[in-house]
Amino acid sequence: MSIQTKIYLVGAGPGDPDLLTVKAQRLIQTADTVVYDRLVSREILDLIPDSASRVYVGKATSRHTLSQKEINALLVDLGRKRQRVVRLKGGDPFIFGRGGEEALALARNDIPFEVVPGITAAQACAAYAGIPLTHRGLARGVQFVTGHCKDNEALVLDPAALSDPEQTLVIYMGLANLPQIVRDLVQAGRPGDTPAAIVERGTTSRQRTIITTIDELQHAVEQHTIASPAMLIIGSVVSLAEELEWFMPWAQEMELKYA
Ligand SMILES: C[S@@+](CC[C@H](N)C(=O)[O-])C[C@H]1O[C@@H](n2cnc3c(N)ncnc32)[C@H](O)[C@@H]1O
Repeated sequence: MSIQTKIYLVGAGPGDPDLLTVKAQRLIQTADTVVYDRLVSREILDLIPDSASRVYVGKATSRHTLSQKEINALLVDLGRKRQRVVRLKGGDPFIFGRGGEEALALARNDIPFEVVPGITAAQACAAYAGIPLTHRGLARGVQFVTGHCKDNEALVLDPAALSDPEQTLVIYMGLANLPQIVRDLVQAGRPGDTPAAIVERGTTSRQRTIITTIDELQHAVEQHTIASPAMLIIGSVVSLAEELEWFMPWAQEMELKYA
């Protein structure tokens, strides 16, 4: 009799364990194997049962434990051997998480899988910084873009995507290429005094939110020694942050740590 296996590609959300979906929590607690990334918080890893195997495949920008190809192969292999494998990824698996590539590898090898969406960092950082990503009269749309290209290829940002003053721009992985991002934004016509926010370690007890402008972004990152993970939010809606600030990380008892 062949065993029924399934791989669950699960979004772990941005860090705060209370932002896990009920489905994600149930799957983590009943997994026999969990394959996880760098940006999954310790509190969420603590939900994994002692009986389950844990496989760390974390990636920093330039340090890869396993290549994406190796991770895909590992998942296919586990899908043939284990019954309930949770592939746990920060945020949402299908937003800058390479979940699509993993799902394709599984589909092409006839391994059954499900995708469990998570709260992506853009939404979570904006909400915890008091920045509505759309707001009547200020922003009628929002774009999620990456500031980092695969294999450190040169970053090419679409000027049309950057120029619309009524679009909020949320930039993942933007720190390394910040000087170019700022240059491209200004060249695309965004005024240098456009409000900009940096949200570091969003939703955790160590969240820092810096409100500045496009012109001052680089200086702010250096002055506050901002490190990854950090999200950049650009647009008029950032001007609401001061009035809508509600999250007081220093008042949180929990200390979230990343693996
Ligand atoms: C490889 S992407 C993964 C995105 C993830 N799949 C998601 O949906 O949020 C990693 C980037 O997401 C952003 N990020 C993830 N978690 C974050 C957090 N808690 N605070 C700020 N930025 C975060 C950072 O820009 C980080 O470099």
